[in-house]
Amino acid sequence: MSDKRTYVVLLGVPGAGKGTQAKLLEQCTGLPQVSTGDIFRYNLKNETELGKLAKSYMDRGDLVPDDVTIRMVRDRLQQPDCAQGAILDGFPRNLNQAAALDEMLAPHGGVSVAPLINLDDEETIRRITGRRTCRTCGAVYHILYNPPKVEGVCDIDGGELYQRDDDAEETVRNRLYVYYKQTAPLIGYYFAKGLLVEIDGAQAIEAVQQALLALLKRS
Ligand code: AP5
Ligand code: MG
Repeated sequence: MSDKRTYVVLLGVPGAGKGTQAKLLEQCTGLPQVSTGDIFRYNLKNETELGKLAKSYMDRGDLVPDDVTIRMVRDRLQQPDCAQGAILDGFPRNLNQAAALDEMLAPHGGVSVAPLINLDDEETIRRITGRRTCRTCGAVYHILYNPPKVEGVCDIDGGELYQRDDDAEETVRNRLYVYYKQTAPLIGYYFAKGLLVEIDGAQAIEAVQQALLALLKRS
C-alpha cells in the first residue's frame, strides 16, 4: 500500500539558492530540509568518523562516495520529522543516487516534484564569494544580497557567520565542473518522469520562494 508524502528535490548549480529556499520552504510547509552538505559540515565540525571521511572530498569539491551518502540519507529520511516528506537539498547528486532515492521513496509515492533553480556561472561565483553561513544553525546570508541585521552575527540564533572552506575560487570551479559532469544528467532524468520544473534563480529570494510555493500547491 502506498502512503503518499511530499518529497521535493531541489536542483541547481552550487550557489543557485537551494539552501536558502529549502530553509524558507521548511518554515512555510513544516517539511524538514534534508541537506547532505549541512549534514557533512555538522560531522566535520564535530570531528566524527563520517566528517573525517567527507573532509578530503569536500575540500576538493568532489562528491563524497555514494555508499556513504546514500546510507546517510536513508537513515535521515527514516527519522520521525520526515513522516510527511522532506525538502531534499543537495541530494541526489548523480544518477546512481537518484535511483537509490526512487527505491527509498517507492512505498511513499516517490519524488513529488524536482524544481531546477537556474543561474548562470558568473552570478554563481558572485553569490558564493559573498556567502556567509551560520556556524551553529546553517542559515545562509549574502554580504550584499541578503545581509544579516548585525555584521557577522546570525539573525536567527546569534551564531557566528563564517565563509565555507569549499568556497575558495579554485574549489568552486571544481564544484561547477563536478555539477555539469555528474549532477546535470539529473535534469533529463526528472524531465523524463514529468517532475522537472524550471525556475529563474536570478530573481529576488522572495520571488523564487513564491514560485516554489505555487509549485508545491499544484503537486
Ligand atoms: P552543498 O553544501 O550541497 O553545496 P552546493 O551544492 O555546492 O550548493 P551550495 O550550498 O554552495 O549552494 P546553494 O544552492 O545551497 O546556494 P545558497 O542558498 O547557499 O555540498 C557541499 C559539498 O558536500 C559537495 O561539494 C560534496 O563534496 C559534498 N556533498 C553534498 N551533497 C552530496 C551528495 N549528495 N553526494 C556526494 N557529496 C555530497 O545561496 C548562495 C548565496 O546566494 C548565499 O549567499 C545566498 O544568500 C545568496 N542567494 C540565494 N538566493 C539568492 C537570490 N535569489 N538573490 C540573491 N542572492 C541569493
Ligand atoms: Mg547549500
